[in-house]
Amino acid sequence: MPETVQIRLDGKVLECPVIVSTENEKAIDISKLRSTTGYITLDPGFGNTGSCQSAITYLDGDKGILRYRGIPIEQLAEQSTFVETCYLLIYGRLPNSKELDAFSTAFNEHSMIHEDMKNFFNMYPSSTHPMAGLSAMVCSMSAYYPELIKEDPTEEEINRIAVQLLSKVRTICAFSYKKSIGDPLVDPRHDLRYVPNFLNMMFSSPTKPYKIINEVVRALEVLLILHADHEQNCSTSTVRLVGSSHANLYASISAGICALWGPLHGGANQAVIEMLEMIQKDGGNVAKYIAKAKDKNDPFRLMGFGHRVYKNFDPRAKIIKQCADDLLKKLGIRDPLLDLAKRMEEVALKDEYFISRKLYPNVDFYSGIIYRAIGIPLNMFPVMFAIGRMPGWIAHWKEMIEDPATKIGRPFQIYTGPTKHDYVPIEQRS
Ligand code: SDX
Repeated sequence: MPETVQIRLDGKVLECPVIVSTENEKAIDISKLRSTTGYITLDPGFGNTGSCQSAITYLDGDKGILRYRGIPIEQLAEQSTFVETCYLLIYGRLPNSKELDAFSTAFNEHSMIHEDMKNFFNMYPSSTHPMAGLSAMVCSMSAYYPELIKEDPTEEEINRIAVQLLSKVRTICAFSYKKSIGDPLVDPRHDLRYVPNFLNMMFSSPTKPYKIINEVVRALEVLLILHADHEQNCSTSTVRLVGSSHANLYASISAGICALWGPLHGGANQAVIEMLEMIQKDGGNVAKYIAKAKDKNDPFRLMGFGHRVYKNFDPRAKIIKQCADDLLKKLGIRDPLLDLAKRMEEVALKDEYFISRKLYPNVDFYSGIIYRAIGIPLNMFPVMFAIGRMPGWIAHWKEMIEDPATKIGRPFQIYTGPTKHDYVPIEQRS
């Protein structure tokens, strides 16, 4: 493999170094291209462009591989917890028992939100999408914890913001749900760990305590682990870009939440269920909707299918599908949407259109079935994705801000507008 590649342009020659990753991925460093040749590259959607070097997550789209700090996602889903996975992603290694206990205890100690923040819930209409409230409240945490929003936070200050965010977003989400159904807010409890605490805040009430079922806790734990990071996806790239201007971590995460909200990204888990409900209501005609998904003149797409990177199965989808089966069996739930989703997958995976485009179920195709079984409302599905992705966003922001090579993100463009022409006074315009 060459150590450099040559770019010859208008009589100039640029030697570009070849960068090789620890997993033998290869990149051409073109950072001197514009200053040497005056040319830029153009790559809409960045399908061929690396934005940074990172040690956090590795994925291989062709082989369906996903590892956090080198550990396969299958092992973490089987043996780890979400809090332990947060530690692994943010600090680069698994914690020992003392560190894990201290980390988990810090989550409990920081699980309350400032009392004044509860007023936010009175200002929004009850119909507000919880991603709007979450993004606004995360950004507003900078107002309630101003001592932490310095341009160059210390490691200790970053650690404190990280724990604040990881713990409080769970409370904010549960409170927004309670507010939307007119129930009194249920505060976090010091004696419950991360996931049971969230479920209790979501579903218990003064007249009806929530019965914590281990299988439900484990299913949600696995979902949060599987969503925790995914290298340079749209929302994580947003967090890095906003953070590169030295915007504080709260502001950067708030921007990531907004990027995740889109139905092509983290909003897809909600869009999948809406799609399945629509197909079910229309008689469950799988062939009709597979045909619509293939029809270029039809805006319908098979939500939860396809991925920018995975051109083979999404390893997370396989685990989530099995988790959905197991949980529904344990709870004695028969969800017709799960049967419909399985039929859609079966037909699509045998269809040339999907095979030739390497379109497989992604992380969002089956996750909504589990959220439904737990009782989480549809418009909170993207919020669950945000809670899961929080450690990944924080880890990438921290890696970016600690990298001395980081520069403010500022891409160029190819201008396609009008060439120079003079201003025309209003009286001379037609
Ligand atoms: C997430 O990037 C990440 O890592 C994201 C994520 C993470 O963990 O952060 O994995 C989470 O966002 C998962 C993706 C959730 N989104 C959806 O499920 C929405 C439905 N999927 C599509 O919109 C689409 O597949 C994308 C957005 C996910 C990927 O789009 P790409 O890579 O830009 O692919 P493309 O649009 O260029 O599609 C290539 C071809 C096109 O057909 P042709 O023009 O070649 O004829 O495949 C077709 C597309 O029309 N296609 C689909 C399709 N997805 C792609 N056709 C029907 N249904 C689909 N879902």
